[in-house]
Amino acid sequence: MNHWTKVQWQAADPRVSNGCASNAWKTMISRDITLRDGRVLHVRDSSLADEAELLQKFGRMSENDRYMRLMRVVRTPNMEYARSLLASLPQAGIGLVATVPAADGIDIVGSALAVFAKDRPSCEFATAVDAGYAGAGLASALMRLLMAEARRRGMQEMEGFVLSQNQPMLRLARRLGFSASYDPDDASVRICRKSLDEEITPTGPA
Ligand SMILES: CC(C)(COP(=O)(O)OP(=O)(O)OC[C@H]1O[C@@H](n2cnc3c(N)ncnc32)[C@H](O)[C@@H]1OP(=O)(O)O)[C@@H](O)C(=O)NCCC(=O)NCCS
Repeated sequence: MNHWTKVQWQAADPRVSNGCASNAWKTMISRDITLRDGRVLHVRDSSLADEAELLQKFGRMSENDRYMRLMRVVRTPNMEYARSLLASLPQAGIGLVATVPAADGIDIVGSALAVFAKDRPSCEFATAVDAGYAGAGLASALMRLLMAEARRRGMQEMEGFVLSQNQPMLRLARRLGFSASYDPDDASVRICRKSLDEEITPTGPA
């Protein structure tokens, strides 16, 4: 298993705490954000009840977006893994969803995830945004909230594994202050890394 696949299995263990204060993870994120085009979305922590909506979101993703997010061809999501990941939060990481009202209640149009490493105060990010909401600053906003919350939770570093061909994500990561170096084991992957030493404003320009 390549090391960048860890975000897909590691979160199954809900006991990870990284030495943070025992109740540090209890504060919840719940806020509205306004996109560049004026649309207002609600951003909050993910919950187990989001499973069906996250599945719908996956169904709306193009094959290319799925490939960029998961770094392999995935047509059917692994529901066992998805449930175990959702259940592991917030102890083992941070899950954020951006929602809009929909006929069935809500649609989740953006998500961001940070999975805590077990052995160091570092976490691995992933994010994905509905095509209909792309280019309006949603991923930038989710990543900023994710970084600020990760810092608050005691993380000192955030990293992510991004396909070299995923220029939109690499541009976004650089704008957010991440370095992007080649993965020594796999030239098709860039390792994006950022220290969380400095305070992060959860809103602001990408
Ligand atoms: C990569 C991805 C997450 C970007 O999401 P997004 O919401 O479109 O990202 P943002 O809107 O914050 O930024 C994207 C663009 O909008 C522009 N933008 C956003 N807000 C802006 C603002 N306020 N003013 C000017 N430009 C703005 C950015 O400059 C950027 O442009 P560029 O890529 O041409 O440089 C999204 O395309 C996606 O979900 N891709 C598939 C999954 C994936 O690749 N995930 C990453 C792997 S972890």
